[in-house]
Amino acid sequence: MKFFVDSADVAAIAELNDLGMVDGVTTNPSIILKSGRDITEVTKEICELVDGPVSAEVVATEADAMIAEGRKLAEIADNITIKLPLTWDGLKACKTLTDEGRMVNVTLCFSANQALLAAKAGATFISPFIGRLDDINLDGMELIEDIRTVYDNYGFETQILAASIRSANHMKEAALIGADVATAPPNVIKAMANHVLTDKGLAAFLSDWEKTGQTIL
Ligand code: E4P
Repeated sequence: MKFFVDSADVAAIAELNDLGMVDGVTTNPSIILKSGRDITEVTKEICELVDGPVSAEVVATEADAMIAEGRKLAEIADNITIKLPLTWDGLKACKTLTDEGRMVNVTLCFSANQALLAAKAGATFISPFIGRLDDINLDGMELIEDIRTVYDNYGFETQILAASIRSANHMKEAALIGADVATAPPNVIKAMANHVLTDKGLAAFLSDWEKTGQTIL
């Protein structure tokens, strides 16, 4: 499973990138707001740092304006993926922009039917939102499973990009189901390294080592 970082925090992306943990980055208008940065400046910086796809989201809601914004965002760097909302206009823009050979990430997906439409419109990535479904007592992971089945039934090449990931457990479940990509905030990716038995075992080893009176260096 590829890891995308769901953030515009350049320092946090760089730290993970140095460890080989970053296959791409996703942003959205809320993430840009949180960064306090200019969208073009911060996205350019991220694109220079990361080799993989970097999603930048349009804010227009009508197809022609989405297409114009998408083309403008794509000028930032070659690895820009244009992020479009899963509306009828978003699907129209997806078809036009993918026909031009551009990468498109169709976002705000909450049903397998929406994912099916995005694949037929040529989307490079579909972003089903797990956490926001869980928030309203639905099963976000079941959606990932349904889309995996639908795409595999018909050989769609659109990549399932599990989004709105809130925990390390979400990462594990997305990987078990076979999501192609998972995008998560840096703290969630780092939390995947944690285990209480690792901490306990390490404390015991260090305590015993101290008793030996030895040093390695
Ligand atoms: C990524 O593409 C999405 O914009 C993001 O994962 C949404 O996450 P949230 O539901 O935690 O805001």
